[in-house]
Amino acid sequence: MKDILQQLEDRRDEARQGGGERRVAAQHAKGKLSARERIELLLDAGSFEEFDMFVTHRCTDFGMERQKVPGDGVITGWGTINGRQVYVFSQDFTVLGGSLSETHAQKICKVMDMAMQNGAPIIGMNDSGGARIQEGVASLAGYAEVFKRNVLASGVVPQISMIMGPCAGGAVYSPAMTDFIFMVRDSSYMFVTGPDVVKTVTNEVVTAEELGGASTHVKKSSVADGAFENDVAAITEVRRLFDFLPMDNRAKPPRRPFFDSPDRIEPSLDTLVPDNPNQPYDMKELIGKIADEGDFFEIQEEFARNILTGFIRLEGSTVGVVANQPMVLAGCLDIDSSRKAARFVRFCDAFEIPILTLVDVPGFLPGVTQEYGGVIKHGAKLLFAYGEATVPKVTLITRKAYGGAYVVMASKHLRGDFNYAWPTAEVAVMGAKGAAEIMYRGDAGDAEKMAAHVAAYEVNFANPFKAAERGFVDEVIMPSSTRKRVCRAFASLRGKQLSNPWKKHDNIPL
Ligand code: HXC
Repeated sequence: MKDILQQLEDRRDEARQGGGERRVAAQHAKGKLSARERIELLLDAGSFEEFDMFVTHRCTDFGMERQKVPGDGVITGWGTINGRQVYVFSQDFTVLGGSLSETHAQKICKVMDMAMQNGAPIIGMNDSGGARIQEGVASLAGYAEVFKRNVLASGVVPQISMIMGPCAGGAVYSPAMTDFIFMVRDSSYMFVTGPDVVKTVTNEVVTAEELGGASTHVKKSSVADGAFENDVAAITEVRRLFDFLPMDNRAKPPRRPFFDSPDRIEPSLDTLVPDNPNQPYDMKELIGKIADEGDFFEIQEEFARNILTGFIRLEGSTVGVVANQPMVLAGCLDIDSSRKAARFVRFCDAFEIPILTLVDVPGFLPGVTQEYGGVIKHGAKLLFAYGEATVPKVTLITRKAYGGAYVVMASKHLRGDFNYAWPTAEVAVMGAKGAAEIMYRGDAGDAEKMAAHVAAYEVNFANPFKAAERGFVDEVIMPSSTRKRVCRAFASLRGKQLSNPWKKHDNIPL
């Protein structure tokens, strides 16, 4: 009996060594943690339960029968994060570059199936050279099985991808279909094909970092939702994000103890909006003052900075925030900000996370670049996302709410539940000056007359009361009381039930 127990320990030890000491040391030398160290750090201490530790590949081509490592380059299983269940896989770059074989894929599929069946999120830590070249089509089929599950799990359980090494080919398309992607600066890359192929095909000379590094994907392509300095920081932040997310689409968002009064009055908000309507202010300040303990987990912080998206808690419950940022491009909507916010709104709606929308928007950004880039279709994404969302929606107009952008930003007309405005709000088709110039073109040369026209338009529309008279704004509130009003609004919506007409699925303008 003792021998048998020892045999189990020996086999476990062998599996834990992965690709061996030399390769683990090489991984450390690059500033990367090993696949097992990552799991240890991500999950609560002692909570990890491993599956399929002894699985090996079945390939016999190219001498592969002599290169078998138990576990086959990916560690899979489940555990907890702050006591809440999560399924995980962590690719082991020390075993054949973390490449995906048929059996490696089967291991990932097993935990994905369990996550869906048992209603818990899945987190993938990706560090892989893509399809295992020696296995040919069998590895491609393996990827296809993973992709299929990413699609089926979408909107059922939250899926989070961490990119922690070079990821190419198939290794990027699975993360691309998950809800959030986080990268590690200087050690992770994502591209469909690497710099060498790019040079051959398009003659462009580019480094791996420029082509698919963290900066590229958080600032330019928006493929990634965030980037962190190293593995430890990335894992710590993903644990923080996880605490905001529900287990699946049937569960309510988590509620945790909070240490902040829902009645908190913030006198400084009464002077947040400057007297000059063209002067910006920082919308993040308002978010911080509304949120429990000022805690805001921002998504896509470095992309389309004219709109802010992320999670806060109110009375301990998760709320998604979408807010125009007057500090960047005056907070206008454009292609990038519409796409960014639309995806976020849809995530919140899919997982029953209520949405708080903070509005200060002078309209859609005009111009040839925007029109050629399809701002009509991209802007419509946000309009569509807000229109179809059935979760509790509370909207606050702080200053400008002009034109189509007013309608888009969770207006009453798109089934906003509570539509508040500050006294500084201006709900109009456009700014007073632009409106007067169009309505009274004939008076263009007469400065005195024009000033009178502008003033008249301001009296009519540079305030929230015309909209309030029609019930498009439910109530004009004191800025200092915002947290209290917003908390009460969401609390009153906890039992909200609303559904859309039956359909197979909608046809959002992609
Ligand atoms: C098998 C692989 C591998 C792969 C790496 N290795 N990628 N083995 N299949 N795809 C092995 C290497 O042979 C090496 O083995 C070890 O992993 C480490 O690789 P290195 O090259 O030494 O590491 P590094 O210099 O850091 O470079 C990492 C890399 C590079 C950038 C990922 O290995 C690379 O370019 N790999 C190939 C990437 C690729 O083209 N993949 C196929 C994509 S196509 P030893 O024994 O020396 O340690 C694809 C299609 C899917 O995925 C489509 C689905 C629809």
